Amino acid sequence: MQGLFITATDTDAGKTVITGAIAAALKARGINVGALKPLASGGTADDNGQLAAEDTNFLLKAAGLAEDQRTLVNFVCLQPALTPAVAARQDGVTIDMAAVISGCRYAGQHFDKTLVEGVGGMAAPLWEDYTVADLMAELGLPAIIVTRPYLGAINHTVLTAGYARQRGIEVAGIIINQWNEAQAGILEYSNIEYIERLTKLPVLGKFPLVPAISVAGARLEGLAELAERHLAVDRLLAAMEGQDK
Ligand SMILES: Nc1ncnc2c1ncn2[C@@H]1O[C@H](COP(=O)(O)OP(=O)(O)OP(=O)(O)O)[C@@H](O)[C@H]1O
Ligand SMILES: [Mg+2]
Repeated sequence: MQGLFITATDTDAGKTVITGAIAAALKARGINVGALKPLASGGTADDNGQLAAEDTNFLLKAAGLAEDQRTLVNFVCLQPALTPAVAARQDGVTIDMAAVISGCRYAGQHFDKTLVEGVGGMAAPLWEDYTVADLMAELGLPAIIVTRPYLGAINHTVLTAGYARQRGIEVAGIIINQWNEAQAGILEYSNIEYIERLTKLPVLGKFPLVPAISVAGARLEGLAELAERHLAVDRLLAAMEGQDK
């Protein structure tokens, strides 16, 4: 299975936007790409009473996949907007992590490149004591850490990279999301400088804040072009193919 696992410093950092942007760029390059959200919470019932999550809707659209491919990219969808282990307990649902892992592996055979979006950050519990980091280690894909330029980002990003290292998870690089070039100053540039210095990982892009993009509204506004312009797509591809070492 070739691809990337997209994690972040925290929930709302922009994992879905960045996973969607990379997927849209690969799709535009003619690559058979899948964008997975194996476990989602905060789902709402569709017309047939089936729970659907915003993240899955956005990723299906970004990768150019059809509605009937939803079960190929999302295996657990829970209603409470809580970390899956807690949302499942709340709803009296059992999460079968072995089934989630085999769902990811099956998708990995179906697509030439498979992007997997996590949940929250690396220590978020998916089921009982099984965390995002456990799933990352199990799948063995190189990881991308999504972060944002704000006060505190150095700390959160360095801790996340350190935890990945401790767990033996290879990190291909860091992507800064919601970059505002016009307003970037000492805080934003020193974030990048110190994140690279302390993690010894490359920043593989500064993705802009584009108000027209919306995960909730499934609005993808020029996502592929934005990815090509602001992300190191060739380096991301090389990482997927294990050529960046
Ligand atoms: N670059 C961007 N430009 C505009 N809006 C953005 C951008 N990045 C993220 N957002 C918005 O910020 C919110 C959080 O982004 P996103 O859903 O990608 O985060 P996440 O890390 O996937 O969160 P979760 O942990 O819930 O999966 C969303 O409403 C999204 O539309
Ligand atoms: Mg998301």
